[in-house]
Amino acid sequence: MASKPPIRVAVTGAAGNIGYALLFRIASGEMLGKDQPVILQLLEIPAEGPQKALKGVAMELEDCAFPLLQDMVLTDDANVAFKDANWCLLVGSKPRGPGMERADLLKDNGKIFIAQGKAIDAVAADDARVAVVGNPCNTNVMIAASQAKRLTPDRFTAMVRLDENRGRAQLAKKAGVSINDVSELFIYGNHSPTMFADFTHAKIGGKAAADVINDRAWLENEYLPTVGKRGAAIIEARGQSSAASAANALIDHVRSLNTVGEVHSIAVNSEGRYGFAEGVWAGMPVKTTAPGAYEVVTSYEMDDFAKSKIKITNDELVAERDTVKDMLG
Ligand code: NAD
Ligand code: LMR
Repeated sequence: MASKPPIRVAVTGAAGNIGYALLFRIASGEMLGKDQPVILQLLEIPAEGPQKALKGVAMELEDCAFPLLQDMVLTDDANVAFKDANWCLLVGSKPRGPGMERADLLKDNGKIFIAQGKAIDAVAADDARVAVVGNPCNTNVMIAASQAKRLTPDRFTAMVRLDENRGRAQLAKKAGVSINDVSELFIYGNHSPTMFADFTHAKIGGKAAADVINDRAWLENEYLPTVGKRGAAIIEARGQSSAASAANALIDHVRSLNTVGEVHSIAVNSEGRYGFAEGVWAGMPVKTTAPGAYEVVTSYEMDDFAKSKIKITNDELVAERDTVKDMLG
């Protein structure tokens, strides 16, 4: 049987920590399918260290002899990295250190997404999809999308899947059930401690999670902060930010976006849904309608508690947008 044409996957920050946990899984077919050839287009900053490290990563990829890896492009030029790319995975940017909030990265990281948004719009494939991981990812994706004239805002998403995975794992642990028993746990708002991991609609074994857990104080006062501050807890424990779980979540993000019927959390242009301000990128549930395409699930009715949580995370997104207003195209 003739093999499928390759999909071009551009990855920025490819020599970084997440890159190292991500590229091998993409090349082995975990993200796009075990019969889907890929070409990796890897971007790093021009400095000698990262460029040398990138070569080393490419040597290791070569040494895996992955049957699906058709070619690799290593570059410090965004116009080369994104050329004809079908998926653009924007990881490259500074991570935070202990004691920082992700928003503290905005001034440094935001400007990366001006240039990269422009380059993607200029040279990526017509069907290009963009997933932003670099923090603060909701606002960075807004910056990138604002530079685009050809690609519509729905093509630009940011990752809150790590938060969804964290939220599901914590519910499963508390209820003493398998992760497979937890469903409909979606993340609303910012990838920051203000995010709302909506336990009010989550299910455990098909029943309302709040009834199964039967401890509202735990859900409000322990569960939400644990999920919201998990990134900081990892930094505290590891001395650097999450990498393997972040790469895993990105694989999940793309795989779910390619799996018709799947409902999962991504940060998208809110268009005013769920009470978010128009034009901010907020986490919410989406349903994949065709490979790479989705519609927002708007059927969840929020109670006053959920609305108050959404207001807090929305206010933060609006404040981040104000901080970067000069970076919006
Ligand atoms: P890292 O420092 O290990 O690697 C980042 C890499 O990006 C470095 O190699 C750096 O040289 C490169 N880079 C910087 N600017 C670039 C540019 N303009 N173009 C191309 N490459 C560039 O960091 P990491 O641990 O891999 O994390 C990367 C980002 O992902 C951070 O901002 C981190 O906070 C974020 N992150 C997000 C999530 C999430 O859930 N959204 C989870 C984990 C980490
Ligand atoms: C995470 O959630 O682990 C990442 O966003 C890294 C961080 O800064 O917390």
